[in-house]
Amino acid sequence: MAAGLGTRMKSDLPKVLHRVAGRPLLHWVVTSAKAAGAGRIVAILGHKHEQVKVALDASFGAGAVDVALQTEQRGTGHAVQCALPAIANESDDRIVVILTGDAPLIASERIAELTAAAEASPAGMALLSTVPPRPMPYGRLVRDSGGTLERIVEHSDATDEQKQIQDTNAGFYAIRLGHLKKDLATLRADNAKGELYLTDLVAQAYARGGATSIDAPFTEVAGINDRVDLAGVEVEARRRINEAWMRAGVTMVDPASTFIDAEVGPLGKDVWLGPNVALRGKTKVGDNVRIDLGCVLTDVTVAADTNIKPYSICTETTVGAKVQMGPFTHCRPASRIDDDVHLGNFVETKKTHMMAGSKANHLAYLGDASVGQKANIGAGTITCNYDGVGKYQTTIEAGAFIGSDSQLVAPVTVGRDSYVGAGTTVTKDVPRGSLAITRVKQVNVEGWADRFREAQARKRREKKPEEQ
Ligand code: UD1
Ligand code: MG
Repeated sequence: MAAGLGTRMKSDLPKVLHRVAGRPLLHWVVTSAKAAGAGRIVAILGHKHEQVKVALDASFGAGAVDVALQTEQRGTGHAVQCALPAIANESDDRIVVILTGDAPLIASERIAELTAAAEASPAGMALLSTVPPRPMPYGRLVRDSGGTLERIVEHSDATDEQKQIQDTNAGFYAIRLGHLKKDLATLRADNAKGELYLTDLVAQAYARGGATSIDAPFTEVAGINDRVDLAGVEVEARRRINEAWMRAGVTMVDPASTFIDAEVGPLGKDVWLGPNVALRGKTKVGDNVRIDLGCVLTDVTVAADTNIKPYSICTETTVGAKVQMGPFTHCRPASRIDDDVHLGNFVETKKTHMMAGSKANHLAYLGDASVGQKANIGAGTITCNYDGVGKYQTTIEAGAFIGSDSQLVAPVTVGRDSYVGAGTTVTKDVPRGSLAITRVKQVNVEGWADRFREAQARKRREKKPEEQ
């Protein structure tokens, strides 16, 4: 169920597309359902459904998640009614699991447990209950004197006495399709909100012996209604993700300040993460990689034994093995950093291929470039790749040495094993094995500095004392 407006988010983005650990809320639920072995998944969409469908297709493949439209939001019971045509051809014996689209931390094991409980239940229905740590406007589980689940009373319909009930409805259900079809048809909107409540199905299950309730920890089923809830769930998601990686062999100096997105992985054995590190998107990290304080890696692949020093930022970059990077290196999209490369402080790459063993240790901009094996880029080197209209390529061949403070005006090629003298502006291709230099010849004016200082001193002495 993901058709709701999400009014309390106060957002232009549909609520279920807000992200926790980098993954949209709805995608968490779909991912769990898939992991639990769901045969088919139908997303009930309404508010901004086109946008939600685009996001689902992009992540899970076009059409992998079916969509049922609920154009008018008339309650959770109505939402499921809208999805019935999509599953009408399934056998009545099948268990349908109904998940809340805005409660992302539901575990696949819990969905499997819920399904098994519905299978075993004579009433053919099971649901998750939870005891919230503070009063929440959730439906209360009303039981008969024998403890059998009799019905759910919604918060807005509950008496003060009913509001004292600790057991609340978490919003996750499993029910046989046959019962679902029959019971949904009988729902009526005779309640405080004037909606069709899915929760009224529980009273019908009572007539068959009562639905089974399974207690789940609140942190797992907490729904998100506003941004405070969102932040709370984010903390819990991150705690879980970090714990799983630490158990898998990753060291985190400070798990509380380590931010690893849900889609990140694998992270290899003996990966070491300093404080305030963020691994985002689909980042993958090989064995024995060290990523120090303050680094942010987004959609980056790092091979084994690489050392990324503090405050390095990489996006859509492939980093090889045994690379030394940082502090303060910035690799922008489409950078390819091969094995044994060294990139030092204030070096920026963009769409640049640094081949094995090449080095740019200080202060450089390398954009739209290929840097051959073992080439050396001196401090202050700039590829002038942009003329305000187009972008042009710089090719630095293997073994070339680019002297400090050089500008390479693209398109240009610096040939294999050649030298570019410090301070050179390269505008023509440099043939293999040669020296390119555009430096103005040096002139030494002997004694000039001494004479200059004496003249200044004399001027000062000649000024009247009151002017001084
Ligand atoms: C619902 C339950 C309540 C439970 C709580 C747990 C009902 C009547 N009440 O209340 O017992 O304690 O969840 O979080 O079910 N949705 C639609 N179409 C609609 C209405 C809702 O798709 O017409 C979707 C929403 O997008 C959301 C989910 O259903 O993902 C739950 O809806 P919401 O309005 O948040 O229900 P609650 O009032 O929280
Ligand atoms: Mg809700």
